[in-house]
Parts: sequence; C-alpha cells; structure tokens
Amino acid sequence: MYILGIDTSCDDTSASVVADGKRILSNVVLSQTAIHNTYGGIVPELASRRHIEMIWPVVNEALSASAISLDEVNAIAVCHGPGLIGSLIVGCSFAKAVGFAKKIPLIAVNHLEGHIFSAFLAEMKPEFPFLSMIVSGGHTSLLIVHEFGVYTELGRTRDDAAGEAYDKIAKLLNLGYPGGPVIDRLAGLGNPEAFRFPRAYLPHSFDFSFSGLKTAVRNTVVHFQKHNSSFSTFADHPSFLNDVAASFQAAVVDVLVRKAESTMAEKGIRRIVLSGGVAANSELRKRMMKMAQDRDVRLFLPSAMLCTDNAAMIAAAGYQHVVCGDFASMDLNPKAYLAL
Ligand code: KG4
Ligand code: ZN
Repeated sequence: MYILGIDTSCDDTSASVVADGKRILSNVVLSQTAIHNTYGGIVPELASRRHIEMIWPVVNEALSASAISLDEVNAIAVCHGPGLIGSLIVGCSFAKAVGFAKKIPLIAVNHLEGHIFSAFLAEMKPEFPFLSMIVSGGHTSLLIVHEFGVYTELGRTRDDAAGEAYDKIAKLLNLGYPGGPVIDRLAGLGNPEAFRFPRAYLPHSFDFSFSGLKTAVRNTVVHFQKHNSSFSTFADHPSFLNDVAASFQAAVVDVLVRKAESTMAEKGIRRIVLSGGVAANSELRKRMMKMAQDRDVRLFLPSAMLCTDNAAMIAAAGYQHVVCGDFASMDLNPKAYLAL
C-alpha cells in the first residue's frame, strides 16, 4: 500500500511516499524560510503563492525519489487543517484534482494527527493508550491517545504555543525566522542560569502558558538596551544573546518536562510521544530522555526531521484512516481551525 502524503499547512511544501504506513520511501520538504526570514514570521499570502508554484515539483520529486509512479499510488493523504487557510487550499485542491484525474482515493488528515502518528514511522511503535505532547509553532497540547481516532485533550496553551514563543523571542533579538533552531544553537553556548525567567507550571491544570515568560525576556532585553549607552545591535553582545537564549530555553524545557512527568504520574500512563517542531530541540530531547529513564517510562521521540512539519507524518496518519475505511470525498474543504 503506497500512500502519497501532502502537507501545505504552513510555510513548508512537503510530499512523501510511505509504504504500508511505516516505511518512508521519500519525504521531500521544501522550506520557505528564505522568503519569510526577513519579516520575522510567516507572511500568509507569500506562503500560499509559493505553495502554488512548488506543489507539482515537490510531489514529482517525492515520486521519483521513491521510484513509485502516480499510477501505483493507492491513496493520497492530504492535510486539511488546522493551518493557514490559503496554504491549506493549495494542498487540498491539488490532492482533489490529482485524485479525481487519476481515480486515486483521497484521505483527509488533521495536521495534529500527523504529528501524533509521526511516531509510528519508527521501528518501535507506541502501544495504545499513550500520552501525546505536541509542541509546535501553532500548538502546545497534551492528549491521551486511546486508539486511532479516540483522543482526550487534557490541556493546551492558554496563550502562545512553545514554538511561537521561540519565534517571538528570536524576532525580538533580530535572529530571523524560525526562531527555534537558532535559539537552540545559541543556548548551547550560554549560561541557562544567567537570568531566572518565570516558569508557569499552572498546578492542578494540564494547560500551558508562555506569555509571561515572553514578557520577562522582553523586559530583560529592553533593560539591557537601555543601560548600554553604546548599544547598536545584539550581534555586538554575543554573550548576552547566548545567556538570554539559554535561560529562555531552560524555562521552556523545565515546564514541558515537568508537565510531562506530572501528567504521566497523575494519569498512570507510562508511554509518551513527544512531537511537533519544538521536539527537535536538543535540550528538550536530552531532558525528556533523562526523565523517561529516571521515571522508568517509555518515551517515543521521532527523529528531528519527523518532528518538524513533513508529509511522511501525514501519510502515516493517512494509513490509519485507510485501515478504518475512512476516505474523504471530492467536496473536502480545508479548515483553518480544525479540532482533532
Ligand atoms: O511542527 P512545526 O514544524 O510547524 C507547526 O506545526 O507549527 O513547528 C515549527 C516550530 C517553529 O516555531 C520553530 O521555531 C520550532 O518549531 N522549532 C524549534 C526547533 N526547530 C523548530 N524550536 C526549538 N528548537 C528547535 N530546534
Ligand atoms: Zn506542525
């Protein structure tokens, strides 16, 4: 069973061919970073225009890299939300057109479901039920996955998503977009205890909040600029930059790790899948692994490439829909806001 996965939910154009829901034959991700970088965030109109230009070339590349022709594809799994509506329309329209022309069944996949089932592309798959922590640019959510299609949301962010906080801090420090990878790198050079930024643990709740942390970092940065009469750019102050990055990252990681730990204990669940773009973070991966070892729980952590947006995860979740006989019709419409 060959599934062609397509994801155009945000700023990456991605296509992938996955065999039997687990073997990745190709996974092409075309980043638009160079287009959005100077704006310090994604410009939706530019993103959708670029998807239109690149969807065919990216799908073609995924097919040729997998050595599978369109005629051999058994189903097309496309992300239909949540995400940027203009971007989603491109992927869905493309999938419907190709599916109709080639008589290939269509599958509609929720982007978050893709992040959850990215863990099923690894050799060792989690057994149900498991806890899923999705940490991305748009979401920070904690769910119990009872089985495919049966989810209980325990909590989510009350304000910024973890990745959004990374991106906003990077913008504040003139580090470009996306902020996660660059802050991750600078944090490795700084002192995580240089600044004591707040951690919103929100006891008795499974929710998250990162806006207070963001404000605290902003206040520290503004204070630094004010009290350095010679200040012109952050690039002239690398140790300050590194220390802010390290201290900010330490606060984010502390909250995520402690929340994962306490939720597993409270719910009596001993398996956790960590996914979404922020799960590519080196410090978060290290600390989660240590927590899992100390607590003797099982952590399922997709490779960094499968944590950030990619179409293989859409194909992996699509396979689960095929197993349930859950196909989409030609009137499929993408939705910017789509619950799991
Ligand atoms: O899952 P994803 O690719 O797209 C969404 O569904 O949002 O996540 C993108 C987010 C961005 O906010 C980006 O800054 C963050 O993931 N990110 C990271 C790292 N790599 C990407 N955050 C922290 N550390 C990283 N290494
Ligand atoms: Zn995502």
